[in-house]
Amino acid sequence: MNHTITRLAGDGIGPEVVREACKVLEAAARRFGRSLGFQDALIGGIAIDATKTALPDETIRLCQAADAVLLGAVGGPKWDDPHAAVRPEQGLLGIRKALGLFANLRPVRVHPALAAASPLKAELVAGVDLLVVRELTGGLYFGERGRRKDPSGEAAFDTMIYSTGEIERIARRAAEAARGRSGRLTSVDKANVLESSRLWRATVTRVVTEEYPDVNLDHLLVDAASMFLIQKPGRFDVMVTENMFGDILTDEASVLAGSMGLLPSASLGEGTLGLYEPIHGSAPDIAGKEIANPIGTILSAAMMCRYSLGWPEAADAIEAAVDHVIAEGARTADLVDPGQTPISTCEMGDRIAAAVLE
Ligand code: IPM
Ligand code: MG
Repeated sequence: MNHTITRLAGDGIGPEVVREACKVLEAAARRFGRSLGFQDALIGGIAIDATKTALPDETIRLCQAADAVLLGAVGGPKWDDPHAAVRPEQGLLGIRKALGLFANLRPVRVHPALAAASPLKAELVAGVDLLVVRELTGGLYFGERGRRKDPSGEAAFDTMIYSTGEIERIARRAAEAARGRSGRLTSVDKANVLESSRLWRATVTRVVTEEYPDVNLDHLLVDAASMFLIQKPGRFDVMVTENMFGDILTDEASVLAGSMGLLPSASLGEGTLGLYEPIHGSAPDIAGKEIANPIGTILSAAMMCRYSLGWPEAADAIEAAVDHVIAEGARTADLVDPGQTPISTCEMGDRIAAAVLE
């Protein structure tokens, strides 16, 4: 079997971590007798430099023609002028929208050997295993925005807008994910204030009660949810929420795992084509130093095998390999205890690839 993967390495540490994930995918291909073809395309700052746009048409075309897309990160100080008309983030938001990837799955699992790496008490984070299902192509990120005159000078606005159709499809994705896990689903909104949240809550409730009566649904306001994530993270299994809340809560949740560098994500639409990326950013301060943690991208590649390539045995093997090297003590700079020597980005990839082949 043959798979075509479009690689969008992007900016900062993107190329380093994507390189390691491809190394691990190649190891899986060798072990399970499949073949992979990689095609590279531009996104983000590097695309702006080469083509003056963060998302060239050719990139969209290569993504649409692939079985899956692997993305590193976009952005960096060079393109950071908030007044610039062209910004790296437009590439990321644009490709999510262009491919119709409305469901962003962000699992957060605390490896037992890393519970102490979290700034929270180890007993609090031990055993945490949750999944945030973030709506990815609606809400504040894509609602109408603009500026207008105001007596004080100027006013600016962004609109949080959701349709029932958008809420129904993400609610179904989340309910299905909950079914495959413990059956518990928490929907997060701000229904005490926002109209879009009231429609969100009513729609999620209807979809789950009518179509997924076996799923145990509860609702939390986003402020309370952000507190429980720190205070009682074990209460969560699957969490579903709108785009902006999901952006914020997943950065917060990453702290539970010990390092943001560990966390993967999958962005999915109606078909099997998906985009896979670590949840961390381009980390320009450490780019090119070979100290970044590639595990978030490697685990994203595992999700790619599971959700886009119909290759669950590769996903399992990659995830087991990551667990194995962590249990053995392999640590990149973001995870070392004082006095411990970190391994490089490349060595971490080598060790995980070797464990896949074992
Ligand atoms: C993320 C990132 C992006 C987002 C940025 C880079 C546009 O923070 O994937 O979480 O806000 O979605
Ligand atoms: Mg974010």
